Amino acid sequence: MRHLLNPLDFSVEEIDDLLALARDIEQNLPGYAHVCDGKKLATLFYEPSTRTRLSFEAAMLNLGGNVLGFSSANSSSAAKGESVADTIRMISCYADICAMRHPKEGAAFVAAQKAQIPVINAGDGGHQHPTQTLTDLMTIRSMKGRLDNLTVGFCGDLKFGRTVHSLINAMVRYPNVKFILISPPELRIPDNIRDDVLIANNVPFEEVGNLDDALGQLDILYMTRVQKERFFNEEDYIRLKDCYILDKKKMKLAKEDMYVLHPLPRVNEISVEVDDDPRAAYFKQAQYGVYVRMALIMRLLEVQKPC
Ligand code: CP
Repeated sequence: MRHLLNPLDFSVEEIDDLLALARDIEQNLPGYAHVCDGKKLATLFYEPSTRTRLSFEAAMLNLGGNVLGFSSANSSSAAKGESVADTIRMISCYADICAMRHPKEGAAFVAAQKAQIPVINAGDGGHQHPTQTLTDLMTIRSMKGRLDNLTVGFCGDLKFGRTVHSLINAMVRYPNVKFILISPPELRIPDNIRDDVLIANNVPFEEVGNLDDALGQLDILYMTRVQKERFFNEEDYIRLKDCYILDKKKMKLAKEDMYVLHPLPRVNEISVEVDDDPRAAYFKQAQYGVYVRMALIMRLLEVQKPC
């Protein structure tokens, strides 16, 4: 039995296979309508979500399966003090696979220790968000035709943004990838990513504060929201929340084939006027999340592709 807790749980070859399956699903969606007949996905969301939870649910429904779960800790017995370990033992009796989002780093790992079913980490605190990474990789491959030979800029809250941490972890495995890390000093990438992932893998990177100066060098710009829910101090959040706003004027500084990704939700960091730019890939990215999660459910349940 396999889980997906961290993007590195899958090899580059396995990710390539999964993205190929997701692409086939995108092109032949009705053909997959019954591959998970009779299977159940539990969505255990202790933290708010729109895309991840609903795209998981759409994914399982598209495969012919069913969905059960909760969308907040308060509507589960966590509100009465039940532990993640006990909850997952119960869920193992009710479902064939589960996706869990939790505010605490490592919660999905704890669940996987006790689970009798595959556990998918749907985001654990500021740590990892591996299914967003699969979505991001599918989007980059689709837009640029490759996952190597790229200069990728990450902009905004690189400290708390778990999607950034996960995508860097995954992308350092592809050749000739360079990163430009654009953030205010307070929201720089954590030391464990800088030292143990970037420096340890000899991956070229720069840490800068100015988005305008970096834009012209980028093949991909990955914008992020300043993560209000992870700040201890509201004053700091208010001071930092609008530190970068991508607008039409800034887009003029970017290459014609630079694509903008964002895991969403967006607050102010991308002006709505950018949405009509053909380089704005973030809504397509959210759509890819359904196909990639369908592919992941099939892989973890060891369901075969239809003939
Ligand atoms: N990208 C993402 O995780 O969005 P949600 O928080 O809406 O699930």
